[in-house]
Amino acid sequence: MGVIFEPFKIKSVEPIPFTTRAERLQFLDDAGFNLFQVSATEVTFDLLTDSGTAAMSDAQWAAMMTSDESYAGSRSFATFQRTVRALTGIEHVIPTHQGRAAERILFACTVKPGMRVPSNNHFDTTRANIEYVGGIADDLVCEEGHDTRSDYPFKGNIDLAKLERYLTEHAGKVALGMITITNNTGGGQPVSLANLRAVSEIYRRHGVRFVIDACRFAENAWMIRQREPGQGARSAEDIAKECFSLSDGCTMSGKKDALVNLGGFLALRDPVLARDAKNLLILTEGFPTYGGCAARDLEAMAVGLREVLDERYLEYRHATIEYLAAGLEKLGIPTVRPAGGHAVFIDAKEFLPHIPAARFPGQAMAVALYLQGGIRTCEIGSVMFGKPQPDGSFHAAALELVRLAMPRRRYTQSHVDRILEIAGEVAERKDRLHGFEMTERPPHLPHFTAKFRAEGDWVRSF
Ligand code: F0G
Repeated sequence: MGVIFEPFKIKSVEPIPFTTRAERLQFLDDAGFNLFQVSATEVTFDLLTDSGTAAMSDAQWAAMMTSDESYAGSRSFATFQRTVRALTGIEHVIPTHQGRAAERILFACTVKPGMRVPSNNHFDTTRANIEYVGGIADDLVCEEGHDTRSDYPFKGNIDLAKLERYLTEHAGKVALGMITITNNTGGGQPVSLANLRAVSEIYRRHGVRFVIDACRFAENAWMIRQREPGQGARSAEDIAKECFSLSDGCTMSGKKDALVNLGGFLALRDPVLARDAKNLLILTEGFPTYGGCAARDLEAMAVGLREVLDERYLEYRHATIEYLAAGLEKLGIPTVRPAGGHAVFIDAKEFLPHIPAARFPGQAMAVALYLQGGIRTCEIGSVMFGKPQPDGSFHAAALELVRLAMPRRRYTQSHVDRILEIAGEVAERKDRLHGFEMTERPPHLPHFTAKFRAEGDWVRSF
C-alpha cells in the first residue's frame, strides 16, 4: 500500500478529549498511576483495547433500526444465523452477549474437574472459565512464539510435536482442543493455514473435539493471504471459510472482528452438545433466538461479519498496524516483530534496560505515553503476571510489554502520526523514566486496581 488511507468516509464524528500536562499529572495521581482507573474523558488516544471499541458503519446502524425484537423466532436471528452459517459452515448458532459467555457455556458442557484443554495460548477469560469448572488449561504455542524479535511469520502456531505428545500422554483426559486466531496473548500473532490443517488432523486422529477461538478470524485470514506461500491468490473470505471448515465449532467475541460494541456467539456442529449449550443459554443468557443480545445487536453483527472481510478494509487495517510498528522501531522503540493483527506491543524490557522488572518498566512506559500526550495503553508484564515471593525476591513476568491496541475504524492515519510524535518525545527523554513501586496489590488481577508510587517522583520532572 502506498499512502495509507481509510477506505471509508466519515458521516458522524465524536470529539476527542484534550487535557494539559498538569491535568494529566493530577489524573494520574488520583488514579494511583493505574491507567485503568483514569476516566475515558481524560484520554486523548485510547489504545487500551480493540474490544468493543469499533466504529460501526451506516449499514450496521441502518440494520439495527429495522431489527425485529420478538422474544422467540425473531427475523433478526434468522438473518444472523444465516450469516454465521454461510461464513463458518457450522449448523448450530448460539448468540451470547460476548466471547466469555460463549466460553463459559462451552466449558460448563464439556469440561469435568481434572480434564485438560490445550491451545496455542488461552486468552485470560478462556483460561479462567476452564479453571472455574475445575479444568486445566495448557499453552502449546511454538518456540518462535516466545521470541519477541523472531521474524517468523506465524508465531501463533501450535507446536505440533508437543501437541502429539500431549494428546498421547493425557489420552482420555482431554475435554477438547482449542486454538486462538489470532493469538492475542502471544502478541496478536497469526496461525498459518498449514498449522490449522495439521492441528485439526491431529485432534481428529485422537478423537478430540476441535474448537476455534475466532475473535480475530478475519485478521488471521488476511495475514495467511499475505504471508503464507500459495495463499496469496485466495480471498480472505475463502481462507476464513476453510479455517472454520477444519473445526468442530468456535467461540466468538463479536466485539473484535464482528465490528460491534457488544455481542458474540458459540457455533457447534454436534447437535447433542448444541442442545446442552442451548439449555444452559436459556438459564443464564436468554432464549436461543436472542441469547445475550438484543435483536439489533444480532443485525449489527451480521453486517459486521460481512464488512470485516472487505479486503480494502483488511489491507488498510494491517497497513496501519505495520506503519505504527515500523514508526516506533524507527524512533528506537523496539516492538514485538512482526506486527500482529490488532495491536503493536512495545518491548519495554529492551527499551528501558535501566528499570528492573520488579520496578515495572512496562508501567513506566505506559505512564510516560499518557503523561506526554494522553495516550492510554496497557501494560502486559510484571504488573499483570509478576509476584513478590515470601523470601523478598520478585518473580518477574517472561516479557515486559506495553500493548497499543488499535480500535477498528476509530482513529485515522493522522491520529497514528500524532501517536508516533508523542512516542518520539518519550523516546528522546527515556533516561528520565524510572520505575514504580506497587503500594497496593489486590489478590487477583492486580493490573485493574493496583496502586503505584513513582520512584523519586520522576513523573513530576519528566
Ligand atoms: N478470546 C480472545 C482471544 C480475546 O482477546 C478476548 C477478549 C476474549 C476471548 C473474550 O471476549 O471480551 O467478548 O468476553 N479480549 C479483550 C482484549 C478483552 O482486550 O484483548 P469478550
